[in-house]
Amino acid sequence: MQTKKIGKLVVPAIGQGAGGNDKCDDIHRIGIIRLGIELGMTLIDTAEVYQDGHSEEVVGKAISGLREKVIISTKVSPEHGDAVGIKKAFEGSLRRLGVDYIDIYQLHWPSPLIPIEETMEALFKLKEEGKVMHVGVSNFSLEKFKEAERAIKGKIESNQLEYNLVERGIEEDFLSYSEENDILVLAYNPSLKPIKNRLILENIGKKYNKTTAQVVLNWLASHKTVVPIPKTLNFDHLKENAAAFDFKMAEDDFKEIQNVFQPKIVEVDPSKIRVLSSKNEPVYTTLEEALKNNANLKPSPVELAKEIVEGGILKPVRVKVSDDAGGWYEYDLIQGRVRYWAWIIAYGKDRPIKVCIYE
Ligand SMILES: NC(=O)c1ccc[n+]([C@@H]2O[C@H](COP(=O)([O-])OP(=O)(O)OC[C@H]3O[C@@H](n4cnc5c(N)ncnc54)[C@H](OP(=O)(O)O)[C@@H]3O)[C@@H](O)[C@H]2O)c1
Repeated sequence: MQTKKIGKLVVPAIGQGAGGNDKCDDIHRIGIIRLGIELGMTLIDTAEVYQDGHSEEVVGKAISGLREKVIISTKVSPEHGDAVGIKKAFEGSLRRLGVDYIDIYQLHWPSPLIPIEETMEALFKLKEEGKVMHVGVSNFSLEKFKEAERAIKGKIESNQLEYNLVERGIEEDFLSYSEENDILVLAYNPSLKPIKNRLILENIGKKYNKTTAQVVLNWLASHKTVVPIPKTLNFDHLKENAAAFDFKMAEDDFKEIQNVFQPKIVEVDPSKIRVLSSKNEPVYTTLEEALKNNANLKPSPVELAKEIVEGGILKPVRVKVSDDAGGWYEYDLIQGRVRYWAWIIAYGKDRPIKVCIYE
């Protein structure tokens, strides 16, 4: 497997995501992670919040006896971001993972409630104690990242962000900063593909005898600091992902992908967006529900609204053109349900909201 050296980190060109709320059995998931390690995908990403800690337990079983071969990337939830909370959360992660140090320990997303200085200090204390090798963050805009940097003396070495052919916001925000300052970008949700123009990816793939999934992963990792961390439960997909880096994409192909898949980001009237309930996760379909936050989502829509008002940059929510033919709604919300309600709480339905149209 090709490796990348980014600052002090030496990482494989691709890692493995172990998040998600799948109901698959542990033996299968452990088998996937182990084969992934054998194939060189030695960076494994998890978080204390995934499946209430069970994801870390599964990763722990999968890496048993292989500790020195793997790079463990895990995350502390922002509500545990105070000095006492981090210590406790960290010990919980160590226990579930069955290890005595973490390679990359990240704050999962910015906290609207706990000062970043306190969180960073606690994370860097773990680094000073030799229990964490690299301190990172996740879902930090460039502005937030710089704020975190100002809060500490040490270097924040990674930022985990969504990056795929549909969500390319980091190209205008964090990507060039990461390249200038040698900061690792762990790209989550890398497998999401646009609906339109897939034939272009297929045709590029044919030139290199690669699948579209491999073309997309290769394109993402062509960016100097980016390491995609796809998650799969399928052994064939796992092998496919591992084999996405043994070719160098020609400049023309790279540019064609760059140009064709421009995200469509527009501002729309929030009341034209329909929020549908979901079988897989709690979704608030009314403002009243969002204000009550009975599902205890963190950050809550109210907390996030506070951050939005204070100037936090909001990633566009993702919508698709609604099938509410002839009805009131123009779009259906498909990602960013807390952000949507936070926006409404912050500004009511009168201020247009930024959306990325999935097409
Ligand atoms: N920091 C954060 O806030 C955050 C947020 C989300 C995710 N993450 C991390 O990022 C990891 C990955 O993100 P994700 O799960 O959202 O997105 P993802 O890996 O892009 O998407 C997972 C989906 O892609 C499919 N897939 C993977 N490889 C494929 C291939 N070669 N061909 C076809 N389909 C393929 C999987 O299906 P099959 O199982 O059928 O292959 C699965 O349905 C997570 O596990 C987690 O560790 C972090």
